[in-house]
Amino acid sequence: MENILSKTCGKIILIGEHSVVYGEPAIAIPFKSTELNVSIQKSKYNIIDCSFFYGKLEESSEDLRGIRFIIEKFLNEYNIKENIKIKIKSSIPNERGMGSSAAASVGVVKALFKYFKINYTTSNIKYWANISEKIVHGNPSGIDINVVLNEKPVFFEKNEDIQIFPINMDGYLVIADTGKKGRTKDAVTDVRKLIDKDDKYKEIIRKMGELTRISKDYIINNDIESLGNVFNKFQSYLEQINVSDEKINKLIKIARENNALGAKLTGGGRGGCIIALASNIGQAKIIANKLRELAASVWISNLKSENL
Ligand code: MEV
Repeated sequence: MENILSKTCGKIILIGEHSVVYGEPAIAIPFKSTELNVSIQKSKYNIIDCSFFYGKLEESSEDLRGIRFIIEKFLNEYNIKENIKIKIKSSIPNERGMGSSAAASVGVVKALFKYFKINYTTSNIKYWANISEKIVHGNPSGIDINVVLNEKPVFFEKNEDIQIFPINMDGYLVIADTGKKGRTKDAVTDVRKLIDKDDKYKEIIRKMGELTRISKDYIINNDIESLGNVFNKFQSYLEQINVSDEKINKLIKIARENNALGAKLTGGGRGGCIIALASNIGQAKIIANKLRELAASVWISNLKSENL
């Protein structure tokens, strides 16, 4: 029987991606329809076993460089000589802005602490997961790790204490995967270049922050229509900072044409996923069915903390 040592899930940013990198807030929820489990057992060599790689840790693929680095560093730091096989089983689509890399880092580190019976705290996990996320994403805000670790909706500001943010809205979120790998690192780097070049983009980031703060009030007041309008405005800013793409725009158009109250990309963009708001389950199903004609996968989630 497999020795599952950690279970984590993906995340969805409702609003605030990219501007969060510059100190503006973001709101994100765990995405429990997806799951990542890590198991560890004794082995002859250090082995990684996941959906896209099976083999020796030292020969692992480029996509695993963050994970590989922290495993090696961890074993070294704790002077561990035993070889292990780490199995990562995940239903979080890879590189789609759903926090798969954060979930893998958090899950693997937690599993290592448990397997080697080393006491740990949440900040130990954050420390190790951050190292991996920096390798994968460059200069991440830290939101992904925080949501995955807490498995609760959060209102997040870089360098501030995380605020758990209960959500109890009457409405549904439709999530659709473009099927294209997102390029978060490139997108974040390119946005930085725009901002360094022209103050106009600094102003856009500031406005994105304002919209995120307003959406916090709309969420608290269960005002889903206003939240939908804010999603649409936020998406237009994401387009202006050049992180949307044709497929994302197509899916968003389909959602809006089918009476979504608002729709936007979620996560880093340039591939990845979109989210759309629906006022009731009937509408959510109509939107989801239309999106299925073009999207790789579609999910529906309600907007209540107890189910998120
Ligand atoms: C990635 O999930 C969200 C971004 O804002 C990057 C980050 O916060 O590190 C695009």
